[in-house]
Amino acid sequence: MKLLVTGGAGFIGSHVCDAFLADGHEVIALDSLDEHYASETKLSNLASARDYNSFEFVKGDVRDSDCLLGLPVVDAIVHLAARSGVRPSLHEPWPYVDVNVNGTRKLLHWVGTRGICRVIFASSSSVYGNNPNPAFAESDPVDRRLSPYAETKHQGELLLKSEAMSSGTGIACLRIFSAYGPRQRPDLAVHKFARLLCNGDEVPLFGDGGSGRDYTFIDDVVESVRCALNWVEKGAFDVFNVGAGETVLLREMLDRLARELGLSPKVRQLPPHEADVYSTRADLAHSRVVLGYQPKTGFPEGLSHFLKWFRVGNP
Ligand SMILES: NC(=O)c1ccc[n+]([C@@H]2O[C@H](COP(=O)([O-])OP(=O)(O)OC[C@H]3O[C@@H](n4cnc5c(N)ncnc54)[C@H](O)[C@@H]3O)[C@@H](O)[C@H]2O)c1
Repeated sequence: MKLLVTGGAGFIGSHVCDAFLADGHEVIALDSLDEHYASETKLSNLASARDYNSFEFVKGDVRDSDCLLGLPVVDAIVHLAARSGVRPSLHEPWPYVDVNVNGTRKLLHWVGTRGICRVIFASSSSVYGNNPNPAFAESDPVDRRLSPYAETKHQGELLLKSEAMSSGTGIACLRIFSAYGPRQRPDLAVHKFARLLCNGDEVPLFGDGGSGRDYTFIDDVVESVRCALNWVEKGAFDVFNVGAGETVLLREMLDRLARELGLSPKVRQLPPHEADVYSTRADLAHSRVVLGYQPKTGFPEGLSHFLKWFRVGNP
């Protein structure tokens, strides 16, 4: 199979590239190396992918029609390119709308003209907002979104749904819950906290520490993409949760991280952040039954994989 991974140099994208190359597929990573974090980091994410002759990196933007026209026809697309980051989207929403909504629209136009049959889209647990149900199910309402980022991910899902209806392209939207692991984005909790702890800096803790996240280890996210690509076929459309299925409290995560690093955190207590959902947990029944998705890595094990990687850069 020939696969196009948009956002292929990012955290999740680079792992998707590695996994599909190792499975024997041809992979093209398209990435604009946006300024959300260092382009050197993103290029280094691709170090292992570059060992394969079946890998190609294209520096380009999903909003650029000329760039898209220059790409070969592929069998499937994993669309991960996005302006990421929940909190900054509150103050600077336009790049989010431009990349996540307009960029997705542009890509879908190209998908239509090339007759590409299968698309996997990285949506987000943030579309649930402050869902009152303890475990978020795909059938729950998504009208409690708290940030422009969440809004753009929801709009992405709607665009993809109408594309599936109108053109018959098979589409799976994966609502990913807080991914972590080696190469995690530097702005995300776990990586950010580990860096602050090691530098002896204060760790900003929004809220009372009782908020929580369903942290999904990167290998499980990649496995969900495999499952979705096996499932998706012409005319299909559905939305799937991708999580670990359990909540880790913020305070618990910080304490465990500090303990593993042998450091004691200096905490700066802050009021809850207006863009943050209080607590998340994925109901995985639908993903299990339809996709056969089964997360394998619990938080303690995933954290030790993360730390093994982190320690190489922070001896
Ligand atoms: N990391 C998470 O916890 C998480 C959770 C839910 C959803 N997601 C979604 O998964 C996807 C990947 O997330 P990530 O954490 O790997 O983020 P990331 O920022 O590491 O990766 C996104 C990549 O997209 C690229 N990009 C941005 N704009 C582009 C454009 N216009 N054209 C081409 N490439 C562009 C960036 O340069 C970056 O390398 C995103 O769509 C994100 O919204 C991530």
